[in-house]
Amino acid sequence: MYVKNTKEILDKANKGYYGVGAFNINDLEFLQPIVSAAVEKASPVIIETSEGAMSYAGDGDFRRGAKILADMVKTLANEADVPIALHLDHGHDIDHVVAAIQAGYSSVMIDASAKPYEKNLSLTSEVVKIAHSAGISVEAELGKLVGIEDNVSVSERDATLVDPGEAKDFVDRTGVDFLAPAIGTSHGAFKFKGEAKLDFDRLRTVKEFTKMPLVLHGASSVLPRFVEEANKYGADIQGAKGVPYDILKESVKYGINKVNTDTDLRVAFIAELRKTLYNDKPQIDPRKLFKPAMAAIKEVVMERMEVLGSVGKA
Ligand code: G3H
Ligand code: 13P
Ligand code: ZN
Repeated sequence: MYVKNTKEILDKANKGYYGVGAFNINDLEFLQPIVSAAVEKASPVIIETSEGAMSYAGDGDFRRGAKILADMVKTLANEADVPIALHLDHGHDIDHVVAAIQAGYSSVMIDASAKPYEKNLSLTSEVVKIAHSAGISVEAELGKLVGIEDNVSVSERDATLVDPGEAKDFVDRTGVDFLAPAIGTSHGAFKFKGEAKLDFDRLRTVKEFTKMPLVLHGASSVLPRFVEEANKYGADIQGAKGVPYDILKESVKYGINKVNTDTDLRVAFIAELRKTLYNDKPQIDPRKLFKPAMAAIKEVVMERMEVLGSVGKA
């Protein structure tokens, strides 16, 4: 069932101490296996689209793309007997936020984390006013998404990661519904140079101060089996490293409820697609090439639902 307000899903996860996967899509090839995984695992799920996904789906017109994506998600969600929400990921301006709201998204993210604190606060407050009047929820971000390096000093860490005191002030003054605190993850397939680690003390303090659903961006695990397969069949993604499952589980234990995942789906899809192209050279039917890649996405999503504890929580 299509959920009009993502807050319903995340408030429940916050009370029940589990995480819900938020998976990025651009097209039906990613959406279909995610929905199918949620149904099979009786799990709630959040589908998200970036501004780039909106433009891609609308062939350059993000408003049209938002409508196409939302119609597609609502159609599949309404046939499924699990809660499914649609979220705008990393909205950077009011135009994209309004396009998502008008298309019927369940929530929006306003990401002004690169701006000075007071600017982030005022833009987020403006988005909260617009979104709440439409009955949908808002996510915002504090701090910068960079990996924790071994030799980084405490003061350098304080300068990039979330400041828990600021998080409390930000939440109180903006009325935002979920917060993404930077605690040492980064986007993409190369998250850590050395050992994977996150700042759990910081996460625990943010949770204690805000008590709200928290979001982990850059949460892909970059599964070695798919990285190896992709490289075997011609890719060049050497040295890729993600957030291991035990660290994801710990993040959920300390208060993360929305777990953003894009890279894992990309890597699994590309690995399987490369393998199929290599093994079935005469094949020219894209559906036959995409099917195994879509199955790999379903496998990754189901595995993450187990890790995050959302199985059976529909
Ligand atoms: O965090 C960003 C997501 O992975 C979406 O990336 O802007 O390339 O669609 P994108
Ligand atoms: P990954 O690159 O780790 O999949 O992160 C995705 C994300 O944070 C989307 O907002
Ligand atoms: Zn992100």
